[in-house]
Amino acid sequence: MIDQQIKSVIRDIPDFPKPGIVFKDITPILKEPVLCENIVNAFAAHFQNATVDAVAGIESRGFLFGLQLAGKLGVPFVPIRKAGKLPYTVKKMEYDLEYGSAVIEVHTDAFKPGQRILIHDDLLATGGTVTAAANLVTQMGGVIAGFSFIVGLSALEGRQKIAPLADKIVVLADY
Ligand code: PRP
Ligand code: MG
Repeated sequence: MIDQQIKSVIRDIPDFPKPGIVFKDITPILKEPVLCENIVNAFAAHFQNATVDAVAGIESRGFLFGLQLAGKLGVPFVPIRKAGKLPYTVKKMEYDLEYGSAVIEVHTDAFKPGQRILIHDDLLATGGTVTAAANLVTQMGGVIAGFSFIVGLSALEGRQKIAPLADKIVVLADY
């Protein structure tokens, strides 16, 4: 099963990026081309009967599979980036972090109002990042087609946070 394949290669890094945090390092997945293909195919299978007009990936780890998923589904890719990286006119969304806040941005012409956007990121933790991305998309007139993640940390209740925003939430490997 795909969840076991993913869990067998992800590694835990204790005390990264700060003491007390156990970081789920997905980079070993990137050394396994067959597993990468299986992940993209698993996501695509979940959304093959859904209307998806574009896949939005969240910088930076959401770019790794988001672009591949967009290609597999045959739709455009929308980069959602951290502040100050996108060169054209942008819409911004500020969101709270554990300490302080962060800003993500998207180009104002990245998609058209009414389009159905699948939001992808590598990992769902508190859900703060992806909620900000979803708010950005809906404030630009987009409709959330669903969410896809490789990894979910269920203790942090991100799924509950985003459940009101879309019917379809795909998490391939839940912890
Ligand atoms: C990580 C991860 C998700 C987000 C999940 O990204 O890739 O994007 O945090 O956390 P949340 O559900 O609590 O918001 P990070 O901000 O570390 O940046 P990166 O993707 O550039 O490494
Ligand atoms: Mg990230």
